[in-house]
Amino acid sequence: MRFPPMEVYGMSRIHGRAPLTDNDAPQGRAMNSIQTQASILAVDDDTRSLMALQGLLADMSLRVVTAKSGDEALRCVLKQDFAVILMDARMPGVDGFEAARLIRDRERSRHTPIIFLTSAYEDAPSVTRGYEAGAVDYIVKPLRPEVLKSKISVFVNLYRNNAILMQEVRDRMTAEEHLKTSQQSLRALASHLQSVREEEWTRIAREIHDHLAQALTGLKMDLAWITSRLPKGSSALRAKAQSMSGLIDSTMESMHEIMSQLRPEVLDRLGLAAAIGWQAGEFQRRSGIRCNVSLPQEELTVDRDRSTAVFRILQELLTNVVRHAGATRVDVALRSESDELLLTVADNGRGIDEEAANSPKSFGLMGVRERVLPFGGRVEIGGVRAKGTTVTVALPAAAATQAAAAATQVEPGAKES
Ligand SMILES: Nc1ncnc2c1ncn2[C@@H]1O[C@H](COP(=O)(O)OP(=O)(O)OP(=O)(O)O)[C@@H](O)[C@H]1O
Ligand SMILES: [Mg+2]
Repeated sequence: MRFPPMEVYGMSRIHGRAPLTDNDAPQGRAMNSIQTQASILAVDDDTRSLMALQGLLADMSLRVVTAKSGDEALRCVLKQDFAVILMDARMPGVDGFEAARLIRDRERSRHTPIIFLTSAYEDAPSVTRGYEAGAVDYIVKPLRPEVLKSKISVFVNLYRNNAILMQEVRDRMTAEEHLKTSQQSLRALASHLQSVREEEWTRIAREIHDHLAQALTGLKMDLAWITSRLPKGSSALRAKAQSMSGLIDSTMESMHEIMSQLRPEVLDRLGLAAAIGWQAGEFQRRSGIRCNVSLPQEELTVDRDRSTAVFRILQELLTNVVRHAGATRVDVALRSESDELLLTVADNGRGIDEEAANSPKSFGLMGVRERVLPFGGRVEIGGVRAKGTTVTVALPAAAATQAAAAATQVEPGAKES
């Protein structure tokens, strides 16, 4: 189909929409980079009509790609994206309707708007055909340049805004990806620092034991030797020696306390369950809060990293009970269930509120969550006002025994009668 010669469009009367400027875009700068990319495809079997269209659109800052047949148009849309396609309805071979249908069938060009250019004498059924083939609009020749240009402007604007949005989505996804990577690195670093700290504490505990404990034992023995050789009647010296002996004893006691805070020997010697029993006993003795502990009857084999994590979590949770709960009783339970190692600490205090449980400022609880992350574990914190707080920590029990753990109620340090 032929377009009338250019004069017929009345080029001298063209005063339609001004060429697109950055002001048309929601974001000027982003638009600027995309502006050069906006292309439209004009499809017509008549070269003169194509040239006329090119001339008509010359002031719109667009790249106008031309195709002389439906086949050529298809090749073009496979190579690049277009803001809009101007499609002559009647062409020999693959006509406009068929070409539009094929363009719609392709993933890349599925949403590209197509405007059909058709003669006034086209009948209604062919208009319907055009819409069925995916046309978004119809323009009847002879074309009115301002109408054509303003319609193209709408689609070009849509295309550009869409491109900006897509770019924003891509930028956001990249930023999210970076954030995720840096979060993962920070987590890995935190976990590494945690284990370095545990190793360091273990080393310091060993050093204290090897050097100070031996020296104190030596002092105690020497003092006993001197005391046994004191002449009768030197009661002042004897009293002094006795107070020195008492001082050595209390120093030894504090030394053991410091050592077991650094690394409880029982954790390495007897395993996690025994260490939890011991810790619960210590907690009850020091805080005066009754602490019931339930441990699995069958022996658990838990690797060092998991044992350390669970033990440190227990220490943090028990410290929280003393500091915040106002509880009179706390129940500690360790069990192995469906390939998971579960630690539950439940108190009968005031009940943690949701905000405190999830606050980014709750570093103690955040530490608890961070500790289980490297194992793919989870933490559940629940509080009921004036009823208490229950924290459950679950670690996939890679190295724990699969045997169902039949829990028994035992008093800390001794079996419950
Ligand atoms: N067992 C509990 N009962 C009631 N409130 C609790 C309990 N445990 C924690 N909370 C509340 O949750 C808050 C956060 O606890 P978290 O352990 O993160 O921090 P913290 O104990 O205040 O300080 P730290 O960083 O020394 O642990 C506490 O300040 C307290 O208000
Ligand atoms: Mg705390």
